[in-house]
Parts: sequence; C-alpha cells; structure tokens
Amino acid sequence: MKCRKCGQKAAINMRHHKLALCGEHYQEWFVEQTARTIRRYKMFRRDERVLVAVSGGKDSLGLWDVLLRLGYQADGLYIDLGIATRFDYSGQSFEKVEQFVETLWPDAQLHVLDVNALYGATIPEAARISNRGRGKPCSVCGLVKRHEMNRIAHEMGYDVLATGHNLDDEVAVLFSNVLHWQTGYLARQAPVLPASHPGLARKVKPFCRFYERETAAYALLRGIDYIYEECPHAVGSKTIAYKELLAQLEAQSPGAKLQFYLSFLRAKEEGLFAAVQEREEGRLHACERCGQPTSAPGLCAFCRLWDRVAEVKRPPVPTTPL
Ligand code: AMP
Ligand code: FES
Ligand code: ZN
Ligand code: ZN
Repeated sequence: MKCRKCGQKAAINMRHHKLALCGEHYQEWFVEQTARTIRRYKMFRRDERVLVAVSGGKDSLGLWDVLLRLGYQADGLYIDLGIATRFDYSGQSFEKVEQFVETLWPDAQLHVLDVNALYGATIPEAARISNRGRGKPCSVCGLVKRHEMNRIAHEMGYDVLATGHNLDDEVAVLFSNVLHWQTGYLARQAPVLPASHPGLARKVKPFCRFYERETAAYALLRGIDYIYEECPHAVGSKTIAYKELLAQLEAQSPGAKLQFYLSFLRAKEEGLFAAVQEREEGRLHACERCGQPTSAPGLCAFCRLWDRVAEVKRPPVPTTPL
C-alpha cells in the first residue's frame, strides 16, 4: 500500500475514506481535518481562549497538540480523580500529561485540579459514601469532571471547553441512547454544545469525526506517549460492550460508524429532537449554591454529593465528660 500523496510506503490505510497515507502526510491530513471540523461546526475562533481537558490518553493529548500546532490559544486542564484501584491510574495518567508538556510544549500552560485535596475525598471514596452508581464510581466521576471542567473554564475566563471524544466514543454513546431512547441525552449529543447558561463555556469535540485508530495513529506518529490502560473501573462497562458490537458492524461495512453518526447529526439539523431540546432547557435553573444549571430543585447533584461526603467524614464532635 502506497501513500496517495508521495507514493512512499503508507503508514495507515483508511478504508472508509479510501485513503492511504505515509506518516508525514497522515499527520498533515489529520491536522487539516481537525481544522475543517472546527470550521464546519463553528467551534471557536482564533481570538477565543480554549481550555482542553486532558486525561493523559491519546485523544485529549493529541487534541491539545493539534490545537497548539494550529496556533490556537489552548491551555490544558488535568483533573486528578484519585483513582488507584489495582494500579495508580490517576498518578500514571498525570505523568503522561506532564511528560507531554515537558517534551513537546514546554511553554504550554497546564492547570491541575486535585479532587481529594479540594473536596476531601477521592472519586472512588465519594462514590462509596454517596452510594451513587451502584458500587461503580463512574457516574460520580462523570458528574465531578463535568462540573469542575465547567467551573474552571468559567472562573478562568475561557470561552470554550474542548474534550478529546472521538467517533468511537460518540457512536457508542449514540447507540446506547438510541437503544434506550434517551431523548434528553439525544437532544444534547452534538459536536458543539452552546453555553447552556450565562457564564458557562461552550463545549466542543473537535475529534468527533476521527475513528479511535486514527487518533491512536496520530499520537504514535507524533511521538506522544499516553496511558494505554483504560480506567480500571471501566472494565466490563456497557460502553465497552457496545464498542465491541459496533466494531463488528464496521468490519463488515467500513464507514458504518461514521455514517450512523453523521446521519444522526443531519436528522438533528432537520429538527428531530428540537421539541425535546426546548423542554429540557426549560427545566434547567441555577443551583442555589454553585450557580451551575440543574434540573433538581435547590442544590445540584454535585453540591449534594459533597454535602453528603462532608456529613459522613466530619470528625466526631468531642464530648466533654460530665
Ligand atoms: P472519558 O470520559 O474518559 O472517555 O474522557 C472523555 C474526555 O474527557 C477526554 O478525552 C478528556 O478530554 C476528558 N477527560 C477525561 N478524564 C479527564 C481528566 N481526569 N482530566 C481532564 N480531562 C479528562
Ligand atoms: Fe472515571 Fe473511570 S471512574 S475515569
Ligand atoms: Zn506521503
Ligand atoms: Zn451546585
């Protein structure tokens, strides 16, 4: 297989695009495609400040790298979740982020947020105490990450929050949402989520049209070292099972995932879910404490979570002997 551009040996063949490229031309193509996605969905402009949520994985580090190569004002945010089940997942992830900055972009700005230091419990501990998510910390983890990304972007004056979600992630979520007809989630699933509330950053996913193997190939060719392991709590998750199913579909019909996702976006543009979107937005109001949008009365789920943790972990009041 030869590179379509220069005729040298191809490093990757993308059957769904009928395109094979060598390492150098693949990187060029990948950066150009990201720029096109940013333009196509009007994600952000040159003069806007972007906060990239980096997990230490190939997608988010690759995304930060591409945005910096394209000359955007992009800073990183790493959230230390305190996950050390079976191995030090959070510690190793952070090492990859630090190494990325040191070796590739020493002048880049990285913000680090330590959940345990800030709120008094790691994610697995908070999940145990609150009993949310049936013994798995993933739902508490998602809740805290979403809230903290929004908060930091808002407090530090970023216009946009970018995450590394790739096509495989988006398609697995879409599949799950369709399987359960989660209309509220379907209404909100998009490459760009406008700020749902004054002061909140817009959310964007510039890698949403790349297959996972494409983002992995970019990281590899670019020399980005990343954490290969999945979060230990993700093992056996529904999302992984859906990804396996969808991989079978893709093997039989290359491009099926991309088509599924793009047809969904087209249907949304035509107004499918518009009524749901309106209904959902009408339900949101500001949390009485933190101000972030919530559909729950009074306090949002994030504020209630940490209230519960504080209640359980509060040191006992010393009793004076009578
Ligand atoms: P995940 O939910 O783990 O599939 O991650 C999806 C995206 O969320 C990643 O591509 C990152 O942009 C972001 N993300 C996940 N974990 C973290 C973290 N610990 N710190 C900052 N961003 C994260
Ligand atoms: Fe959050 Fe696994 S529980 S990344
Ligand atoms: Zn080439
Ligand atoms: Zn709140």
